[in-house]
Amino acid sequence: MHAPTLRCSILFFTCTFLLFLSSLNLASSAKVCNSHDKNTLLEIKYHFNNASVFATWDPDTDCCSNWTEIQCDAHGRVTMLEASIADDVIGEIPPAIGELPYLQFLSFGSFPHLSGPIPPSIGKLKTLQHLDLNGNNLSGPIPDFLSQLKDLEYLDLGSNNLIGQIPSSLSKLSKLKLVSLATNHLSGHIPAFFGYMKNLSELYLLDNKLTGPIPSSLSQLPNLFAINLGLNQLTGSIPASFGSFKTPVINFFSIYYNNLSGPIPRSFGKANITELNLYHNKFTGDASFLFSRDKTSLTTLDIDHNLFSFNFSKVDLPQNLANLDISHNNIYGSLPNRLGQLPLKSIDVSFNQLCGHIPTGRRLKQFKPAMFSNNKCLCGPPLAPCN
Ligand SMILES: *[C@@H]1O[C@H](CO)[C@@H](O)[C@H](O)[C@H]1NC(C)=O
Ligand SMILES: *[C@@H]1O[C@H](CO)[C@@H](O)[C@H](O)[C@H]1NC(C)=O
Ligand SMILES: *[C@@H]1O[C@H](CO)[C@@H](O)[C@H](O)[C@H]1NC(C)=O
Ligand SMILES: *[C@@H]1O[C@H](CO)[C@@H](O)[C@H](O)[C@H]1NC(C)=O
Ligand SMILES: *[C@@H]1O[C@H](CO)[C@@H](O)[C@H](O)[C@H]1NC(C)=O
Ligand SMILES: *[C@@H]1O[C@H](CO)[C@@H](O)[C@H](O)[C@H]1NC(C)=O
Ligand SMILES: *[C@@H]1O[C@H](CO)[C@@H](O)[C@H](O)[C@H]1NC(C)=O
Repeated sequence: MHAPTLRCSILFFTCTFLLFLSSLNLASSAKVCNSHDKNTLLEIKYHFNNASVFATWDPDTDCCSNWTEIQCDAHGRVTMLEASIADDVIGEIPPAIGELPYLQFLSFGSFPHLSGPIPPSIGKLKTLQHLDLNGNNLSGPIPDFLSQLKDLEYLDLGSNNLIGQIPSSLSKLSKLKLVSLATNHLSGHIPAFFGYMKNLSELYLLDNKLTGPIPSSLSQLPNLFAINLGLNQLTGSIPASFGSFKTPVINFFSIYYNNLSGPIPRSFGKANITELNLYHNKFTGDASFLFSRDKTSLTTLDIDHNLFSFNFSKVDLPQNLANLDISHNNIYGSLPNRLGQLPLKSIDVSFNQLCGHIPTGRRLKQFKPAMFSNNKCLCGPPLAPCN
């Protein structure tokens, strides 16, 4: 009984330190769920008829410490709600979702039966930085009220049934780092404003019904990491400005399955891209400048199913190229010897006008003959010997 007091007076510093620690501990155990936030969450749970994902949301326990999918700040306010993958989350997102005023991170996705529009109450979540509604069955347009979420850095509305155009109001979200509107039914043009979002590093608009040209402003993005505009109905060619991207290296650039046509501007040969996918378009003319020995970052080049026509004998192949598909074009000439020395994992040069010996070397003969077939006169392993 006496001992603690004695110790405190002798080892004053240790004692205050311990008191300090225990007060910290008190603070964290005082992280009791704010009752307003708790009631809001319970309202969401009941709205979805106590769906299985909310099984731990027990009214008798603390929402901050005992409920999965939830995180709180030091004051017991809910800052994060992350729930995903369930078949029994059925119906619309309830307006109650907007009654979590401290929410920074909302990920509510992969619920195939979550339908209806994106509710206006989402616009009340002023502190939201991360909004992920991917993989639901949401319908209607991309609402303008999203532009009220000024701190938003991550916006993923992919894999829903959204319709209409990409609204210009999104341009107000200047902090966005990632935008995914992929796999919806969006129409209209790709707005130029994406090019002026200084922090935008990933833009995924693939698999929609977007028309019109690729905006040249996108080359202005100083932090671009990946862009995918594939599976749309884009027309025109690649903007000439794409020869001088503000970003030193772009990891992923895909514009496959569009209605892009005409020659690719020569300037595009200067772009530094790791994975470049141009397949299934109507590009014509020369593409030899996409290859060159100094393109050390290029590992995947896929230009199949276009109308390219150039002499392949003259291309200078980059040393790290691992995946090459030039099939279904009008490419002529022969396969350069250097092709046999590359670290290739996949190759397809079929359905062109190529001729001559397939380069020797251990690598090329391991691929299937079909990868070289339907050319003018290619020969040697894995095809039949040359005469
Ligand atoms: C959900 O759970 C609450 C509380 O346990 C209960 O009152 C309510 O009837 C349940 N609703 C359904 C649809 O099961
Ligand atoms: C709630 O969480 C706290 C802290 O993690 C734990 O001590 C307590 O046992 C949990 N209560 C229930 C009912 O799970
Ligand atoms: C998705 O929503 C549409 C209505 O917008 C509905 O017809 C369809 O059945 C829903 N799909 C699923 C899997 O719930
Ligand atoms: C971009 O990100 C940086 C670093 O995270 C941040 O300091 C800056 O304010 C952001 N720019 C905008 C326009 O939000
Ligand atoms: C794109 O090409 C397809 C097939 O060639 C065609 O049916 C469609 O009308 C074209 N769309 C546009 C917008 O040009
Ligand atoms: C291209 O990217 C590589 C890194 O992958 C870098 O070393 C090289 O300097 C870049 N080239 C140019 C022209 O920016
Ligand atoms: C392709 O280029 C090579 C090397 O310069 C040349 O020998 C050949 O005649 C050219 N082939 C055609 C069809 O122009």
